[in-house]
Amino acid sequence: MAAALPISGLIAWQGLFDHAHLAPGQTVLIHGAAGGVGSIATQLAWEVGARVIGTGRADDRDVVLGLGAQSFVDLEADDLRQVGEVDVVFDVVGGDVLARSTELVRAGGTVVTIVLPPTVQPRNGRAIFFVVEPDRAQLADLAQRVRTGRLKPIVGAVRPLAETAAAFGRDRRTPGKTIIEPVTNS
Ligand SMILES: NC(=O)c1ccc[n+]([C@@H]2O[C@H](COP(=O)([O-])OP(=O)(O)OC[C@H]3O[C@@H](n4cnc5c(N)ncnc54)[C@H](OP(=O)(O)O)[C@@H]3O)[C@@H](O)[C@H]2O)c1
Repeated sequence: MAAALPISGLIAWQGLFDHAHLAPGQTVLIHGAAGGVGSIATQLAWEVGARVIGTGRADDRDVVLGLGAQSFVDLEADDLRQVGEVDVVFDVVGGDVLARSTELVRAGGTVVTIVLPPTVQPRNGRAIFFVVEPDRAQLADLAQRVRTGRLKPIVGAVRPLAETAAAFGRDRRTPGKTIIEPVTNS
């Protein structure tokens, strides 16, 4: 489980708190909420007291609601506009999903995306792309949350090094993080 934490945990933390300044009582729309980054972002946002709306594919609904999201939007079947206005969008998908979400941001709100620099901005808010930074204090806090059971990274699959390409192939459909096992000389 430790291998699923550092990058996903830090980017979720930095996106929600350092860049979007998510506060208790605010509403955050988290895309790909069953994925490696989104599943941690959903738990952190819920714990800080935000109202979380998670998105993904239909099969992800129960996982996302189980992580603390108050509601779930199936990006392939539901109309994203049903969520109404949000304070923060946390995006891991990009493209058209990012563009449609940007319209939902209320005045003064923030879109954070980790995919590519955004080409659209909210009418009266900010859109930010960033790259994860190493941060010892944040990582220690995240690790402590895992130790005490407050945070549960989802390990979707553990695969040997030789199967790396297949593990990240086109037909992958495993919630959470895929971990590649190192080769041991035993
Ligand atoms: N900027 C940075 O520093 C940084 C750092 C780490 C990662 N990243 C980027 O962050 C992104 C997410 O990483 P991750 O580890 O969280 O990936 P992940 O585990 O694959 O999670 C993405 C989630 O979004 C879902 N999804 C993607 N497109 C969708 C769509 N059109 N409709 C519905 N659901 C959709 C995926 O479902 P499926 O599996 O079914 O597609 C998956 O559940 C990647 O692009 C990665 O490169 C950036």
